[in-house]
Amino acid sequence: MDVDQVPSNPSTHDSFDDVLSRRLSRRTVMVGGLATAAVGFLGARTAAASAPDAAPADAASAGAGRALGSGSRANRGPRIAFTSIPRHAGPMPAIAPEYDWSVLIPWREKLDGSGTSFPYGLTSDEQAQSIGIGHDGMWYFGDGSDGMLCINHEFGTTPHVIGKPLPTSLEDVRVVQHAHGVSVVKIRRGRKGWRVASSRRNRRIHVNTPVTFSGPAASSALLQNPAGNPTLGTLNNCANGYTPWGTYLTCEENFNGYFGRRSGGTNTQELNRYGFSPNGFGYGWHLFDDRFDLSNPAYVNEPNRFGWVVEIDPTKPEQPPVKRTALGRVKHEGATVVVGRGGRAVVYTGDDEVFDYIYKFVSADNWKSMRARGVSPLDEGTLYVAKFADDGTGQWLELSPNNPLLADRTIDWILVNTRLAADILGATRMDRPEWITVGRDERMYCTLTNNTRRGTAGTIAGTIPPVPRPGADAANPLAPNPDGHIIRWLDSDKHVGTTFTWDIFLLSKDVADAEGQMYGSPDGIWADPDGRVFIQTDGAQPGGQNDQMLVADAATGAVKRLFAGVSGCEVTGITVTPDRRTMFVNLQHPGDGNPAATNFPEPFTGAGGPVPRDATIVITRKDGRVIGS
Ligand code: FEO
Ligand code: CA
Ligand code: CA
Ligand code: CA
Repeated sequence: MDVDQVPSNPSTHDSFDDVLSRRLSRRTVMVGGLATAAVGFLGARTAAASAPDAAPADAASAGAGRALGSGSRANRGPRIAFTSIPRHAGPMPAIAPEYDWSVLIPWREKLDGSGTSFPYGLTSDEQAQSIGIGHDGMWYFGDGSDGMLCINHEFGTTPHVIGKPLPTSLEDVRVVQHAHGVSVVKIRRGRKGWRVASSRRNRRIHVNTPVTFSGPAASSALLQNPAGNPTLGTLNNCANGYTPWGTYLTCEENFNGYFGRRSGGTNTQELNRYGFSPNGFGYGWHLFDDRFDLSNPAYVNEPNRFGWVVEIDPTKPEQPPVKRTALGRVKHEGATVVVGRGGRAVVYTGDDEVFDYIYKFVSADNWKSMRARGVSPLDEGTLYVAKFADDGTGQWLELSPNNPLLADRTIDWILVNTRLAADILGATRMDRPEWITVGRDERMYCTLTNNTRRGTAGTIAGTIPPVPRPGADAANPLAPNPDGHIIRWLDSDKHVGTTFTWDIFLLSKDVADAEGQMYGSPDGIWADPDGRVFIQTDGAQPGGQNDQMLVADAATGAVKRLFAGVSGCEVTGITVTPDRRTMFVNLQHPGDGNPAATNFPEPFTGAGGPVPRDATIVITRKDGRVIGS
């Protein structure tokens, strides 16, 4: 299929005029509601959430529904008619009785469309020709039966990938490196369901794939090494985005954990602020690969080459991935693109760490005219960081030398050391910003997964001067916050303004079903055009249940459980066919790699069974209706 024909984000939603007219008609009401939310949120939310299976019309009479205003469609709410499943634990998934799931692409399946996989214990060359591990954010570019699927491979631990606690050779390191990155694969629906198809566009992008840099910091000395080594690879590809011009965005999150120190030395302030440590997350790459050795002066700036939003064209397999420096360098969770006033491309991104920030980038001009001039809309524009006020308003603070507080810094320094620049501006320290999605009413919804450090003694790592860990504020109202929450905001001037209004959509702890607490640690999130909000979890779940996917009504906050994963796995990544009759979801790190917990996707046979495999699954409704209904 032709990706140029694929609907962009806004066009999969209601028409622009519909959205605009709703937004304008609600705006006044919303601001009033937000003021209420800031002071009276907890009581309202509890009322709305205590009856998660109530008909949307009933639930809408609770506080949160009123806060949404008078839009009749909003008060009626979307159809979420499926049977919410009970809490689930165990080695295989569970799904609502109206739905089916099936496995699409597990780790190690070959890219050639044969449907076969390399056996456990594969070589680095074999891993580079097959699906990676740690399936995470993804996006489908296609129609109802045929298209390209881009899948992030966030991480796979060394014990899971190669069955050893640490690598003992460079080849070991390469196997694990090639399991990270992105897969681009053609998929097609046939008589036996969805399968990987052979295509010249199928490719793997991993830690050793050539990449290029673009934007204001692309030729900065901060991105060059004395070793003169080429720019290679993408790492810890967490959540994602996609552009109106048909490309995929993959986001580098916890890149710090792959570096270590072979021969001592100490961190700079910049390395501290990004969390580098002598042994990282224990991957041991630095023991055999000089690029990841923080003590090797020839590679002093290699850490600066990660932490970017990376653009991939699924239709151009010969084109290297491009790291877009204008979007800043943080632990990017995702990169959610919307088209703002004047046709500008606006990108929202969260920096997932306790007390880190939410950012947005606004392109300099209309994205179509920029592309017509041969300029990427992601290369020229303005980066901002969010400051949430306790009264339900907020500001976007400019991250550039135009800001008097950053007048003595270069744009290179700001874009490479974005966290430090945002510290100087006094941005709001959030409870781990994860995914961001755009709602039917143009509000942005952001999961704040948890923060057990809020309100406890100590300082935030890497800031100079040291900053004490903050207590609660209105936008992060729980200290500590073990189960997380979802915040949402409406930008002024159709996404391009520098102010916004916000409220809290859900506090996890207040969403309860008949069996007690319902979910914790919201992470993946996607709003559909009917007003459903799909929520995926990553972390300890109340009652010992598996991680899961829920569906919330944006108008009422009512929540139902659609799907539960397997022991030890995270449920993450969400994309649909344009007709929304097929949904793709990922199960990441099933059993944390331990076959005693699960042999997914194989039936459970116990510790002697197959090593569990991360996989993309397909979700359909038995009656063929829209997913979530
Ligand atoms: Fe990769 Fe913040 O989850
Ligand atoms: Ca993850
Ligand atoms: Ca995540
Ligand atoms: Ca997470």
